[in-house]
Formats: sequence, C-alpha cells, structure tokens
Amino acid sequence: MTQQPRHASSPAADAATTPATTPATTPATTPATTPATTPATSTATSTATATRVAPLHHLLGIDDLDAAQVVHILDTAEQLLPIATRERNTVPTLRGKVVCNLFLEDSTRTRISFDLAAKRLSAEVLNFSAKGSSVSKGESFKDTALTLDAMGVDCVVVRSGSSGAPRQLARYLDVPIMNAGDGWHQHPTQALLDVFTMRRHLGDLAGRRVVIVGDLLHSRVARSEVQALNLVGAQVSVVAPPTLLPPEVERWGVEVVPSLDDALPDADVVYLLRVQRERMHRAFFPSTREYQRLWGMDGRRLRQLKDHAIVMHPGPMNRGVEITGEVADSDQSVITEQVTNGIAVRMACLYLLLAAPAVDEEAGR
Ligand code: NCD
Repeated sequence: MTQQPRHASSPAADAATTPATTPATTPATTPATTPATTPATSTATSTATATRVAPLHHLLGIDDLDAAQVVHILDTAEQLLPIATRERNTVPTLRGKVVCNLFLEDSTRTRISFDLAAKRLSAEVLNFSAKGSSVSKGESFKDTALTLDAMGVDCVVVRSGSSGAPRQLARYLDVPIMNAGDGWHQHPTQALLDVFTMRRHLGDLAGRRVVIVGDLLHSRVARSEVQALNLVGAQVSVVAPPTLLPPEVERWGVEVVPSLDDALPDADVVYLLRVQRERMHRAFFPSTREYQRLWGMDGRRLRQLKDHAIVMHPGPMNRGVEITGEVADSDQSVITEQVTNGIAVRMACLYLLLAAPAVDEEAGR
C-alpha cells in the first residue's frame, strides 16, 4: 500500500518547505499561529487545534499530553513531512541548538531517526551511548546529567532500560527531555508516529478499531500506544497469550479479545508487537510454532482483513514469529512508512519543545 499524500498540496505544507526565503522558525510557526490552514483540520481529530494548545515542556510519556497537544504534534509533523522525506532541503529552524541523544540501551532505528530529525532542523547532534562513555565506568546517572548540563546542551533525548529514567533526568536538568523508550514504561514518539501513520491512511480515528497483538506485558510501545489511541477516540482491542497480558490491562480502557481470528474481521489496524525475548526470564509460551499458530499474523489471517485495513509493527520484527514475511511485505503493511513518518514526528516534537516557545514569546503569548 502506498502512502496517501492527502495533505501534500496544502498552503501550510508549502509554507513549511520554503526554508531559503523564510525566517529560521518558519515551519511550525504556521501550525502554531494559523490553525485554520493546517492540513489536518479537515478531519474531526484535528478540531482541537482551533483552541489554545498548552505548550510542551518535556515529552516524557503520552500520559502527560492531552488530546489537543497530540493533534497539534501530528499537524506539525504533517507540515514537516516533505522535509523528513527529503522532497525539500533541511530548514534552519534549530540552528545553534545542541540536541544530545543519550542512549543507554540498544537501539538502531529510534536513535537514527532522532539523529536525522535533529539534523533536518539544522541542530547540532551529540550521540552519547552507554558503551564507550563514562556510564560504563560506573558514572552515576546524576553525574552524567550534570556533565551534559555543564556542556550546555539544549535538549536531551534519552533511552534507558530503567522505567522512569527520563523523568529523573528532567529533575536534574533544566532543558527539555524527550523519552525515546524507558524500560516497560513509555515510548511516546513511537505511539505518536503510529497514530500519525494511521491518520494518514484512515483519516479521523474516532471510532476506528485498532487491534494490538502480542507481548503486551513487556511493551512500552503498547502502553503509550493505547493512551494515544484513547486520546484520539479510537477503539482498542488487545489480543495476547494470557501470560503476556499485563495484570493491570483492565484499567487500560481496552477490550481484551481471546482469539486473534475473532478480532481480525472488524479491525481497521492490526498492530503487531515484537516478542521481547530479552525481557523474558522464563517461558511465557510453549514454543515459537505455537505462538505463530495462535498469535502470529500470516497470509491466511491477512485475507480475513477488510481491504482498507493496515498492518503495523514498531520494529525490529521477528519474521516467522509474530509476523510472516508474506504479511510484512504485503500491500497492506505500512511498516516502512512508520519508519519514514517517525522522522517527521520527531522533528515536530523537537520543534515544539525547542523553537515554539521562542516563537510564542516573540508573539507576546
Ligand atoms: C521498540 C522499542 O524499543 O521499544 N522498538 C523501537 O523503538 N524501534 C519496540 C521493540 O523493541 O519491540
């Protein structure tokens, strides 16, 4: 399935892609000041931009955001997508700002995506990973934070195996902190890029049915995803082996469906989660074959979906476990689009955290 450039010709999208002739902060001043012209205001999900949107100070979890802020981030990302996809050049919006990527846990796509997002906005990027840094020599998290502070970074993007580490960092540092995934807790930019991708394909998400399948217990993505989908009014069903359902799932505002085959015919989106073996210290299901048979998405199940339904996965995929190659490479899979859209969404978050406050101040708001 090809990505629908539904908003590509909007005036705001054009304004966002003319860096050479416009001031450094142009891209997102458009959505901030002229909500009526933002691309997504044509859908009901976007009407919240017509009211004053509370500024972002950090991006620690989706639970810190309200619906208007989510829609504002998505609308801003829509405007930045042509720059993310290199239809246009970089913009000078964050020139002179230093963004530090502090990655204390393995990551490929998220780290590269944040790196590219900051560079497309002309920020300087410091890549700091646990391996090869003083953290591996036993430096405390607080001392690492104080060192970054002393170096004058303007924003820290942090990934950590410890739930709550980004919030802790926000206590030590006086600059915006973005959570790039912490333990089993939150992965807010993944949820935002997923909702952005769903919105591009399905329009208004209110009442749409999203089925999340797999290892919910260990998944920070699922926790953020459900909160973001609830904010935009989608109906969420979850399907998982009973051993991989979090005990608190009843409080998530989702429907627990026992069988994947029962959930598929009504789905607008099937969202597959990776089986997170690195977080499993005992057997949660009998065998990979058993998992594939009961909870995996294969060609037979793909044919149970409605024609417009899309298949998503946050990556990295375990082909042959939660998803077969046939499904991952099918026309209904939007998995590579998620990766591309992630750059635009992270650009939007960086913009809103680092450049929008200055724009608001200039405008006396
Ligand atoms: C996710 C993560 O790290 O939480 N992946 C990612 O950000 N690219 C999901 C996963 O690892 O399964």
